[in-house]
Amino acid sequence: MKFDILTLFPEMFDSVLGASILNKARERELISINKVDIRDYTKDKHNQADDYPYGGGAGMVMKPEPIFEAVDDLKIEEGTPLIFLTPQGKTLDQKMAKEFAKEDRLVLLCGHYEGIDQRVRDNLVTHEVSIGDYVLTGGELPAMVLIDAVSRMVPEVLGSEESAIEDSFYNGILDFPNYTRPQSYRGIEVPDILLSGNHGKIATWRRKKALEETLLRRPELLKKVQLSKEDKGLLEEIKKEMEEGANG
Ligand code: ADE
Repeated sequence: MKFDILTLFPEMFDSVLGASILNKARERELISINKVDIRDYTKDKHNQADDYPYGGGAGMVMKPEPIFEAVDDLKIEEGTPLIFLTPQGKTLDQKMAKEFAKEDRLVLLCGHYEGIDQRVRDNLVTHEVSIGDYVLTGGELPAMVLIDAVSRMVPEVLGSEESAIEDSFYNGILDFPNYTRPQSYRGIEVPDILLSGNHGKIATWRRKKALEETLLRRPELLKKVQLSKEDKGLLEEIKKEMEEGANG
């Protein structure tokens, strides 16, 4: 997967893309990152990438020419997504990350100031993506979030396939609780079932815990996923236990 990032602040990406799993994925050439400084495409002596809005008003607007020219230079193939990060976009979720991970190349455009000339959005941008209902100072952090979420869905980026298959949201529900050594810490014990060696029972316990966490914290997710007959049985058990807990 190749990511091209169009930004006014390329240095912001260094620490995030240079550490941990994303760095390893780059070294293994599973992903590659091409940072493009939009300012390199400005022509005036002040390297101005923004200008006053037509019609007046507060704030500055990112100029179209440097962005169009930077995109020309990328020589992108027909059909390559060009994603503008903006709070007005569609909210990023796991399904979207998985879909983007099927592409060979993604171009990410990070906005700044009050906005970007609409001609860029109308003529270059193919997707608008938000990372949540809050406003950040620019699209760089959202671009990093998107790169992280997409990269870990690229085959072989994660150490074992299981870590993606079992994690939160991959199956549309929350994660089960994890424990490691020591078995007892400050008097707090690891649940016995996990020490039992009975893999069937452990799998059922984990599924039940995941369903319980989801029911308690994000019940709306349960309406969106396909639940097996066993899942439905476990949910019944959980609800009964909750009622008993409330009554007793
Ligand atoms: N730019 C500023 N805020 C943003 C957000 N929440 N998502 C995507 N891009 C943004």
